[in-house]
Amino acid sequence: MPDRETSVVFDKERAASYDTRAAKVAPLRDTLHLLTRLVLSELPVNARILCVGVGTGLELIYLAQEFPQWQFTAVEPASAMLDVCRQKAETLGVASRCIWHNGDLDSLPASNPFDAATCFLVSHFFLQPESRQQFFSQIASHLHPQGYLVSADLASDMATSDYQSLCEVWARMLKYAEYPDEDVEKFLASHGKEAAVLPPDEVASIISSSGFEPPVLFLQTLFIHAWYTRACHQS
Ligand SMILES: C[S@@+](CC[C@H](N)C(=O)[O-])C[C@H]1O[C@@H](n2cnc3c(N)ncnc32)[C@H](O)[C@@H]1O
Repeated sequence: MPDRETSVVFDKERAASYDTRAAKVAPLRDTLHLLTRLVLSELPVNARILCVGVGTGLELIYLAQEFPQWQFTAVEPASAMLDVCRQKAETLGVASRCIWHNGDLDSLPASNPFDAATCFLVSHFFLQPESRQQFFSQIASHLHPQGYLVSADLASDMATSDYQSLCEVWARMLKYAEYPDEDVEKFLASHGKEAAVLPPDEVASIISSSGFEPPVLFLQTLFIHAWYTRACHQS
């Protein structure tokens, strides 16, 4: 990942607390998962799904349980996060349908094309639009022509009063999720410095210039925006 210089690290400590904190604000995540499920529900019964930046596997586990024959390739550079994901997959009996790749997307070996990719809360770590575009292009290159991408990221126009107002609610949400005060401050300070927080139209335009159709914005929860789209490259 070319411009990953962030104090938001996904180490053992964050991996161990990630799901507990997510559980405190589960309705936000549940909505994203349910809508993703509906977007992807017409895929073949044995679809192959690429989960980019799978973290502790919240999206993978949900989709694996909803679609019992889907196969997953989980890409995750942070070993501690992937270990939690793998452990949960084993406990819940879905690990036999998963391939684990402990590394960045650019180190994922080529394979048969995927029917869909999920990429939740990852691409905003690419600060430069060009590297973010390259990242989405890499995802497109792993997909069937017309394969789906569902992507969720922080997005907002930081120059607006709406952004300032949402920061207050965002901080309340993080505190409600029991992040320590210093983490809440760190997360807010990271906007625009360690996490790209661009206006939603700019994120959509980066996606559509990366081998995808213009994406459809289907969800906003505070700063998190989610889009779906389909690859439009020639295979
Ligand atoms: C905020 S977490 C999101 C995890 C999970 N997708 C979720 O929604 O809960 C972001 C994850 O992206 C991973 N990541 C960062 N850069 C990446 C890259 N270039 N390729 C794949 N994953 C990456 C991080 O290690 C981290 O686990």
